[in-house]
Amino acid sequence: MAIIIDDTCRVFTLQTKNSTYQMKADAQDVLLHTYYGEKTDNSDKSLLFYQADRGFSGNPYELGKIDRTYSLDSLSQEYSSFGTGDYRITSLRVQNGDGSQAAQLRYTGYCVQKGKYGIVGMPAVYADDGEAQTLVIRLEDSCSGMEVELYYGVLDELDVITRAVKITNQGTQDIVLKKAASMNLDWEYGDFQWISFYGRHGMEMNFQREGIHHGIQAIGSVRGSSSHQYNPFVILCEKGADEKMGSCYGFTFVYSGEFLIEAEKDQIDRTRLICGIHPDNFSWTLHGGDTFWVPEVIMTHSGNGIGKVSRNLHKAIRKHICRGEWKDRQRPVLINNWEATYFTFTGEKLIAIAKEAKRLGIELFVLDDGWYGKREDDSTGLGDWFPNEEKLGCTLKELAERIVAEGMQFGIWLEPEGISEDSDLYRCHPDWAVGIPGRKPCLSRGQLILDFSRKDVQDFIIERLSELLGGIPVTYVKWDCNRAICDKFSGMLDAGRQGEFSHRYVLGLYRVLEKLTETFPGILFESCGGGGGRFDAGMLYYMPQIWGSDTTDAIERLSIQYGASFGYPVSAMGTHVSTVPNHQTGRVTPLSTRGCMAMAGTFGYELDISRLTPEEKTEIKKQISTFKKYYNLIQRGDYYRIFSPLEGTCTVWEIADPSGGEALLSAVYHHVQANPVPVRVKVQGLKDEAGYQLFLTEDFKEKYPGKRLPYGFGPGEVISGAALRQFGLVIPEAVNGFQAWQIYVKECPYPSTHPK
Ligand code: GLA
Repeated sequence: MAIIIDDTCRVFTLQTKNSTYQMKADAQDVLLHTYYGEKTDNSDKSLLFYQADRGFSGNPYELGKIDRTYSLDSLSQEYSSFGTGDYRITSLRVQNGDGSQAAQLRYTGYCVQKGKYGIVGMPAVYADDGEAQTLVIRLEDSCSGMEVELYYGVLDELDVITRAVKITNQGTQDIVLKKAASMNLDWEYGDFQWISFYGRHGMEMNFQREGIHHGIQAIGSVRGSSSHQYNPFVILCEKGADEKMGSCYGFTFVYSGEFLIEAEKDQIDRTRLICGIHPDNFSWTLHGGDTFWVPEVIMTHSGNGIGKVSRNLHKAIRKHICRGEWKDRQRPVLINNWEATYFTFTGEKLIAIAKEAKRLGIELFVLDDGWYGKREDDSTGLGDWFPNEEKLGCTLKELAERIVAEGMQFGIWLEPEGISEDSDLYRCHPDWAVGIPGRKPCLSRGQLILDFSRKDVQDFIIERLSELLGGIPVTYVKWDCNRAICDKFSGMLDAGRQGEFSHRYVLGLYRVLEKLTETFPGILFESCGGGGGRFDAGMLYYMPQIWGSDTTDAIERLSIQYGASFGYPVSAMGTHVSTVPNHQTGRVTPLSTRGCMAMAGTFGYELDISRLTPEEKTEIKKQISTFKKYYNLIQRGDYYRIFSPLEGTCTVWEIADPSGGEALLSAVYHHVQANPVPVRVKVQGLKDEAGYQLFLTEDFKEKYPGKRLPYGFGPGEVISGAALRQFGLVIPEAVNGFQAWQIYVKECPYPSTHPK
């Protein structure tokens, strides 16, 4: 049983394989948060709370003259509300019919449901009934009649608990939500740090670790989408925790819109973490009877370090967020023409790329931007999703059919949310572009954005794209969005409801994606937001992979993919081998290094293959066969970060089969030194008692013959799992700048001479 309820003491305990979460409805009907952490028993942890009179932290009326130690300002609560005596950051702020901003949430009951709850119209973790249970706890503000239902999904095997909130106005007067968070988590004590991921276009997912200090720390987005600038995901850990040790929590917001994740250390050193919709652009009116769902958060805890938190989240996303035919199906190795041609191509050029790609073992050709409308650069044509037949020299259908006839699959780039002023769509429907009447809108990449909060716009896009995709043999779509949103206003919303725009936009996007993915189940959709501008678990519900960054430089990708690996699985990360000098940085790296980097993701190419030398083409063939050989291990294995790209000389990561029978180590020298200190790697996830052999993968074996390799690589050399874990192996030295190595570790029988 994952959900244990003590009805007498009103204690709710959620047990997962290795963690425990607990709440209690106290004598005042306040829902206290009593525990989240390493697995423990079901006993009431609130008995261990300590309360004292904290001056200026007031007391609820009923206790004000009896017990000055009881204050909402210092108690650990499950879902805090603004305006009634809790002065910390709070999870819910409402405006009542009389204009007051206050809610007093009190416990009224609970129910347990079989399986995992779902949220209509929004992404959420899903699971079979046998894999999950749901607990719903009801709170109420009796004055206004607002009901707040806290939803908990417990996936015990995965050590995952999800949270979402449903708010219903059961009163007669309107209630306006001003801030609505999906979760509030209070810690009675502890010295914490948090890890978040900041960035910018072309340089997403930078790792940042800071102490939680007195005051408020926050990351978030008011850009319409989850953004390049901050990813909607954080890790909170006890000070000193590392990859393998320490108590750590992961929080992933299953949402693609504006978010806020805040932490506050209060006057008595308690920590509060809140995650929800960003309140700055948000308000939502609930008439009597109306309901509002606050999106879901996935939480996980590990007592064994940050690495385990990541692996829990990888599994949760791979198995319980990603859906559809492509969830577990082997994805094709693709070639995208963007960095090969940008906007300048003809149909013949594209076919030549596809033909050559086919010869090298590539399986899917993706036609990127520039194939539609009058799109010769990024200033025109967005919205006109009709092929430019003059440029292609044929219809899109003919082009796709010719590519398919070459034995390649065909894929296409779309940016359905974008609209250029210079487009037929804009000329027909200028009111469909987001902007405030009477003000000039802000342009970004010279373009505007379509008002996806409008149903007529959603319906138009569904219809246009269904017709387009239904008319060509297409198996892949790259769904891009190349600007952030400001000047937020929708012609379809009353003045009092303009604060609903951003969330309605995201709901509209989800509706369109749900329809299209349902209509075209065979199409592999890849999300893109100018690279990683919308890299979140919400998008992964509709599309199992996301283009990680517009930077394809292998060395920059080390830190982008390192950052992403904390919260997202390899199978979600769109990665390509591109040309050198790299188009974003001018850096030259070996093809083998670029291949190694791209194999830490979905793997593909994005370069003009007609310019490659015969040697490079041979190497690409080898890379593709290596990737395919280890596909299952790479995409489904357990991921370990060994050395970070942010320090030292060599970034190392490992993917091990959960059985411990094999592992793939990847190492990239991001800093090359003379007379280097050996890079020693303690291999994880193996079986102590088993023997293992080490092999360089194809590309590396032949490329660096004659190089003296460390012990373990020689024929017949067998090392125990225990020795590889405790003593470790040495990564071969770099023989050129930005050298990479890929080492395959395979279980094998010990030779007869092995000491028993
Ligand atoms: C975005 C994407 C790129 C490419 C261009 C095309 O920047 O991230 O990969 O598709 O748009 O305009």
